[in-house]
Amino acid sequence: MIVFEKVSFSYSENLILNNISFKIGEGEKVAILGGSGGGKTTILKLIVGLLKPDSGRIIIDGVDITDLEEDELMEVRRKFSIVFQDGALFDSLNVKENVAFCLREYTNMTEKEIDEKVDELLTIVGVEHAKYYMTDELSGGMHRRVAIARSLAVSKPKMFLYDEATTGLDPVNALNICNLINELSKNGTGHIIVTHRVIDALRVADRFIFLKDGQIVLDGDRSILLSSNISDVMIFLSELKQIS
Ligand SMILES: Nc1ncnc2c1ncn2[C@@H]1O[C@H](COP(=O)(O)OP(=O)(O)OP(=O)(O)O)[C@@H](O)[C@H]1O
Ligand SMILES: [Mg+2]
Repeated sequence: MIVFEKVSFSYSENLILNNISFKIGEGEKVAILGGSGGGKTTILKLIVGLLKPDSGRIIIDGVDITDLEEDELMEVRRKFSIVFQDGALFDSLNVKENVAFCLREYTNMTEKEIDEKVDELLTIVGVEHAKYYMTDELSGGMHRRVAIARSLAVSKPKMFLYDEATTGLDPVNALNICNLINELSKNGTGHIIVTHRVIDALRVADRFIFLKDGQIVLDGDRSILLSSNISDVMIFLSELKQIS
């Protein structure tokens, strides 16, 4: 479903991704790991065409999106449900209005239909009680859940993209969000989770891509990740040993 062919990307002089290639099929559950500033968020932005590569091709569902114009990218974006790292909700709107925002913008649903849809989405992510909370009344975990509910509002995505969905959460909430991610992907929808928490990557993914210095230094299953002798990967894995 997602093909990166020799993709390079830089922010001005700063080379972030150096000639990377990978394929992710429909329904795959992939974790993209790597250090801060390694280009993980950049990859997600490239997948949905928010950024353009300097060189290489990006193909989504057989369509080369590399040179598509903004209006042509809408169809591509509809295939994905994205929760961005900053997961920004609108501060001036309550939970209901945040989730309803895209429904109001992009659909002709009536007020009653919107209300029912918001209830349904908040129930899926387990924060139905917070429908009329303002965003500053939400805990970090609730905030992520609302952001996920909002990302589910419009489309029936073919793939979920989560950018650091569990970062900064306490262990219980991190586990709950991982369970939610697994739950949402149960019917064969794939997901890509971008994270530097290897513990959460192992909870939700069965394929692991590790980025370092703009390149993919590891791409494999759980056993390949866990037995890696790449020093950076081993440092990430030491997070697991600290708790066992
Ligand atoms: N809009 C921008 N302009 C210039 N440089 C940027 C911009 N966005 C990101 N960068 C730089 O690009 C590099 C990669 O950023 P990216 O956000 O993809 O990293 P990341 O792997 O997601 O990091 P983190 O784990 O901290 O979220 C970083 O060095 C960052 O400073
Ligand atoms: Mg990031």
